Amino acid sequence: MERKTWGTASGRQVELFTLDLGQGNRAVLTNFGAALVSLYAVDSRGTAADVVLGYDSLEGYEQCDKYFGVTVGRYANRIGGAQFTLGGKVYKLAANDGQNHLHGGPGGFAKRVWEPEVISTAAGEALKLRYFSPAGEEGYPGNVQVEVVYSSTGTGGLRIDYAATSDEDTVLNLTNHAYFNLAGQGQGLILDHELTLYADYFTPTDAESLPTGEIVSVAGTPFDFRAKAPIGARIDEDCDQLRFGKGYDHNWVVRRTEPGLCLAARVEHAESGRILEVLTTKPGIQFYTGNYLDGVQGKGGAVYERRSGFCLETQYFPNSLRHGHFPSPILRAGERYQHTTIYQFSSK
Ligand code: BGC
Repeated sequence: MERKTWGTASGRQVELFTLDLGQGNRAVLTNFGAALVSLYAVDSRGTAADVVLGYDSLEGYEQCDKYFGVTVGRYANRIGGAQFTLGGKVYKLAANDGQNHLHGGPGGFAKRVWEPEVISTAAGEALKLRYFSPAGEEGYPGNVQVEVVYSSTGTGGLRIDYAATSDEDTVLNLTNHAYFNLAGQGQGLILDHELTLYADYFTPTDAESLPTGEIVSVAGTPFDFRAKAPIGARIDEDCDQLRFGKGYDHNWVVRRTEPGLCLAARVEHAESGRILEVLTTKPGIQFYTGNYLDGVQGKGGAVYERRSGFCLETQYFPNSLRHGHFPSPILRAGERYQHTTIYQFSSK
C-alpha cells in the first residue's frame, strides 16, 4: 500500500494511504478522523474520477464541520437534549447542534488521530485504524477501544469493518460520513442521480431532525425509493418532513430478510454509467442530500453548493435510546461491537 506523510495533528503524524480496490478503482484514506479522502471510480468508458467530496489539506479536515468522509462516533447523528440515561445514570454531552448533540460532539472520532497499521488479509492489504477513547471523553461512559478496517472487495468496492469493546456499558453508533457525487466531486448537483432504497419504512423527525419515534410506511410519500427515482424528483415537495430536513435528511429502516450484510441502497448516474451500492449489517441508513453545504471550498478548487453531494450513512437510528422500540445501540461491557458496510462501485 502506498503511504505518505500528510502533516501532523495533536503532535502526531498524519498519513495518506492508497488502497487498490480492483477494477481500476482506488481509495485514499487517512488516519486523521479515520477518513476516506478520495475515491477514484471508473465510469463506463474506463475514465476514473474522484467521487467523494473533501479537502486537499489536513487543515481542511481539522476545521471541517461537514464531516466529509470521516468516521463518526461515538454516536452518529443526534442525541436529543444532548444527554442520555443509561443504567439509571444521566450522561451530559456537548450541545453542538442547537440543543442537541450531533455526530459524537466537537471532539468526536472525526477529529482524532488514529493509530494506523497496514495489515494483510485474505483480500489483500488493508488499513487498520485504532483509537482508544477514554471513559468520559465527550461525556460518554466506558473506556472504548475502536477499530476500523478499510479493505477492498476486490471488485471495485470499499469494505469497512467496525469493531469495538468497552469496559462499561455504553452506547456506540459508528458510521462513515462520505458525501458522494457519481459525476465526480465538484461536478454540480446530485439531483439527477437515481436512487433505490431497499426500505419500506422511515423514521419521521420533528423540526430539530430528531425522530419522533414513529416508524412510518414510505408508501405514497416522497420517501418512497423502493423503485428507483431521481433524487431531485420530489425533494422540494411541500411537506413538513422535507421542510424540517431542508431536503432529505432522514433515517430509513433497512429491509432485512436475514442477518448479516444486505443491500440497503443503490445509486445510478446515467451520464457516467457509475453505480454505487451500499451493503450493511446495520438496521438503519441516513440518506442526507447535503442540504447544509453552503459554498464550501473543496478539493482541486471545487466549490460545494447545497446538494452537490449525498450521504448514505449506515447506522443505528438517531436518538434511539429515547425510543425503546428502536434497535438498541447499547454496547455492554465486555461485548464486541461489530458491523460492516460496503460501498461497492461498478459502471454500466
Ligand atoms: C445529518 C445532518 C447534518 C450533517 C452534518 C448528517 O448526517 O443528518 O443533519 O447536518 O450530517 O454534516
